[in-house]
Amino acid sequence: MSLLQEEREIILSNEFVDTFDFAEVEDFVKNASKNLFISHRFRNKDKMLVQPRGGFPTYKKQFALYEFFTDANVDILPLTIDSNTRLNDYGTAQKMLRLSEENDVDMLNGYPLVNHGYRTTRKMITHFDRPVSLRHGTPDARLLIETAIASGIFEIEGGPITYLLPYSKNFPLDKAFLYWKYVERVCANYSALNEPINRESFGPLTATLVPPSITIVIQLLEMLLALEEGVKSFSVSFAQQGSMSQDIVTGAVLKKLARYYAEQIDCADADIHLVYHQWMGAFPTNQNFAEQLINMATVIASMVGADKIITKTREEASGIPTKEANAKTVADTQYTLRILNGLPNVVDEEEEEILTLEVKAIMEAVFNDSADTLWRKVFNSIKNGVIDVPFSPHIINHNEMITIRDDQKNIRIIKRGNVPIPDRCYDYERAQCDLSKDQTSIVNDIIHDIGIMQ
Ligand code: 5AD
Repeated sequence: MSLLQEEREIILSNEFVDTFDFAEVEDFVKNASKNLFISHRFRNKDKMLVQPRGGFPTYKKQFALYEFFTDANVDILPLTIDSNTRLNDYGTAQKMLRLSEENDVDMLNGYPLVNHGYRTTRKMITHFDRPVSLRHGTPDARLLIETAIASGIFEIEGGPITYLLPYSKNFPLDKAFLYWKYVERVCANYSALNEPINRESFGPLTATLVPPSITIVIQLLEMLLALEEGVKSFSVSFAQQGSMSQDIVTGAVLKKLARYYAEQIDCADADIHLVYHQWMGAFPTNQNFAEQLINMATVIASMVGADKIITKTREEASGIPTKEANAKTVADTQYTLRILNGLPNVVDEEEEEILTLEVKAIMEAVFNDSADTLWRKVFNSIKNGVIDVPFSPHIINHNEMITIRDDQKNIRIIKRGNVPIPDRCYDYERAQCDLSKDQTSIVNDIIHDIGIMQ
């Protein structure tokens, strides 16, 4: 038996799993409807795909949510997982699921997939017969993704960096790399049976003044780590940043460099897609304003040429959205996409060049790390601050890079910390900002920049 299979058997002999039938699951994936595979949908797509988020504790409520989404003409269904499951606390998830079922109140902020199990969940997924995307935030997602794939969920979001640095304070990063290596391998193995399982990285990170160079580097590295293990369909992503022009430049550079680095490791045969997130920062409480923001994001996603857009709702500022509000966003976004025609092609060569130079310099520093494998090089680069994510709560993150918005609202690096931003680019970034101000005014500007959409 392979080492991986040995590990899988240990993971799946968990007390919360009701006997995992490896052979049956393999057979199910082999014969699963093509309609369940987003990789298949991407290949045959004629428009930008629209995907909301959404997860309720009970099967009944999740089913009702999917009915609403289907009526709203959703392209990709979500399955958002509750936070106990994300932290591998299946015991608490079980208890809260019971309470939710008994009292008809939501005691969890998502669907506890491991507790429901794959036999039950598969009934719902195959009933709707649309691609489902697993949205979670789990550093150790081994059991979760096994259950997801066995249920018919053939897109897995996340990665060792993007599901750790924004969410966790002290989960060990080296362990996250190894746990995600397992995820990539399992996805790669299943991909050989039918259409590929799509992996998607989580580009928004902390959604707080993250400069595009850092976002892109992390997208590229998670992509390489997945392709290395044999994944054949991958989505890089980023979130609306606050400047239309910076988003267009980011999308162009990310697309170009994703292809470039995939070719560098002889993985040019992999399909690579671009996903755009509607604004992920603090939202306006005014629901009409929130709708304007959402609509604007859809326009920008079109300018960026995204393959898929992840939506927000007018209720974002107040908590988890109702199924009605969530479905409304899907219908509105589909409408906006339908009437958005004749878009101009905007290119900013100077900005693209600067951003490309920055990304390549950071990537080179990562590759030049003396460790023997890519994941160790990336690990060291986060540890020594070559990769630095603004506002990450994680103890390993340096938090020495400082960013601010220029007068066009582009995010600019005014302090690079240990990130090897080339001098020419650094001078350019700083030259866009008014740095003659005293420190207190700059700090106030940063606070304002964080709440810019409110
Ligand atoms: N259902 C719908 N949306 C959710 N989000 C988190 N959990 C759920 C859920 N159970 C959304 C938040 C935020 C994003 C990160 O995910 O509203 O927009």
